[in-house]
Amino acid sequence: MSQQKTVLRALAGETLPTPPIWMMRQAGRYLSEYKATRAQAGDFLSLCYNPELAAEVTLQPIRRFGFDAAILFADILLVPQALGSDLWFVTGEGPRLSTITTADEVKALKPVTAIHDTLSPIYETVKILARELPSETTLIGFAGAPWTVATYMIAGQGTPDQGPAHAFKDANREAFEALLDRITEATIEYLSEQIKAGAEVVKLFDSWAGSLQGADFEAYAVKPAARIVAALKERHPETPIIAFPRGAGERYTGLHKAIGADCIALDDGVSAEWAAKHVQPDGCVQGNLKSSHMVTGGDALISETRRIVEAFKNGPHIFNLGHGITPDADPENVQLMIDTVRTA
Ligand code: CP3
Repeated sequence: MSQQKTVLRALAGETLPTPPIWMMRQAGRYLSEYKATRAQAGDFLSLCYNPELAAEVTLQPIRRFGFDAAILFADILLVPQALGSDLWFVTGEGPRLSTITTADEVKALKPVTAIHDTLSPIYETVKILARELPSETTLIGFAGAPWTVATYMIAGQGTPDQGPAHAFKDANREAFEALLDRITEATIEYLSEQIKAGAEVVKLFDSWAGSLQGADFEAYAVKPAARIVAALKERHPETPIIAFPRGAGERYTGLHKAIGADCIALDDGVSAEWAAKHVQPDGCVQGNLKSSHMVTGGDALISETRRIVEAFKNGPHIFNLGHGITPDADPENVQLMIDTVRTA
């Protein structure tokens, strides 16, 4: 049977006349229907762990915009919670976790086999979505990459420069590596269960990869991702994998091969023309449009969207933003971006 889903075709390496399109954080606070469902759920974590409502918010942007892919509604910080970290969200500020500052605290984390006790509602959400999504829409599951997840576990919150995680790594490399190993193993099991439940693609978010320098980038961004990809490919050889090492800059070159990913997601820190030359020859690319265009719209949005479509037109490409859409974005600008891509 020939593949009809455009996202899967691009991930298989096909160059399409119009790139398929979806958007990071496409279910989110810029949508009134998201805010209504979130209010119904109570807080953000209750929404993540409520399979019916999490499926509902995943479907909202598909109904409104007809994106070619839906991304499971959850969060990368559910894995630390499943490993035993306390997790809560402070409105207007972001996530808070119990901190990890010693080797003993790493050892005290729960065994990887225990994660499903916490994460099973997420697999239920995936099952509902696999049933309810339109036949042309691809379902993407995801997890945080080990380094990015570790930065939150160590600091207990988001940090501008990942300072506490770098300090822990450089002061106590053995404990740091034990933490990364634990997250890596948990991530393999978590993503494998998402695939079994019906995720057709999985994506690894390494939002803070760019803060790793020199040998650390190879050891803590590339290697754990490659390990996760290899384990998943062994169990689920048909499932494409997208890696997003945000902020990699010139190190984006060669990452398809180094990680073993079918697609490399690009932030907005490299030019599409450069990436078409140095990254896309190795496989599918995704991303690159500055999220701020979803706030400002207008001619700049149209011309930048066209430029990215044009730059990537000779190879496999999935249109996306360089990072998540922000709560102050205007849904009309999202529609304008989609119309521009589809008529470019
Ligand atoms: O893309 C999607 O629509 C799927 C769902 C998704 C969320 N978070 C929902 C969410 C995904 C893929 C994520 C990934 C995620 N979460 C990352 C990696 C990508 C990135 O943005 O760099 C990170 C670092 C997190 C951790 C996290 N979750 C932070 C730092 C915050 C607070 C910042 C903010 O935007 O409020 C969250 C909360 C969060 N995750 C929201 C959503 C929709 C907002 C929560 C709300 O409704 O109040």
